[in-house]
Amino acid sequence: MSDSRSDPQPKTVSEAVSPSSLVIAIDGPAAAGKGTLARRLAEALGLACLDSGALYRAVGLAVLRAGGDPADEATAAAAAGTLDTGRLSDPALRTPEAGDAASKVAAFPSVREALLEFQRRFAREPPAGCRGAVLDGRDIGTVVCPDAPVKIFVTASPDERARRRFAELQAAGAEAIYAAVLSELRERDGRDSSRAVAPLKPADDAAILDTSALDAETAFRAALDIVAQRAPGWRRLVQDVR
Ligand code: DC
Repeated sequence: MSDSRSDPQPKTVSEAVSPSSLVIAIDGPAAAGKGTLARRLAEALGLACLDSGALYRAVGLAVLRAGGDPADEATAAAAAGTLDTGRLSDPALRTPEAGDAASKVAAFPSVREALLEFQRRFAREPPAGCRGAVLDGRDIGTVVCPDAPVKIFVTASPDERARRRFAELQAAGAEAIYAAVLSELRERDGRDSSRAVAPLKPADDAAILDTSALDAETAFRAALDIVAQRAPGWRRLVQDVR
């Protein structure tokens, strides 16, 4: 006779196959497809998702709205110290001006320090009901979550990234010139990669995923393969998702 108290049945499939919590770190340059990939992985695997770029954009935007200069460290650090992390879905965060301001404030160690603990706590204690978290940014695998079992560095050629960003802007009805989009991306790549603190670079143990010739679906499937390789306990759930 089976005793339901001593032989508890898992309530869901994922409860039966995902034994421990998981952190996935996704890094890469602007417009490489990190955000789309992070959201798809999070949704498929039941993980929470944090777009860390939105934190830097929110700081940059707060400075711009107050009439300040994002390239001034004291102003940027004050905005980072009082950031309202509950307002990260403001559409104004997605504008090129917010992205440019974000890249400037992100170069300051005091700004990065002010945002670090929020990101680490999100990874450690994801919102209720999630078995872990996906974080995407520039320094997740190198600084924020250096112990994450799964690290993916998503990249694509500058031309391909500019083409995608240009198409997004056109679809949103914004006026855009391809050459200007490409030059802004190159400028941002340069600033993000050359700064002294937490520069954009792959962690030594990151899997490199070049999406130049991949559509979103193929990139997602390649990322699932990386998760299955690096987090063996999640293999069955990954198989179910595929
Ligand atoms: O990913 P994004 O375009 O939203 O990021 C905006 C800027 O924020 C980017 O130019 C660099 C900075 N950033 C960063 O320095 N570290 C992160 N983890 C995320 C973003």
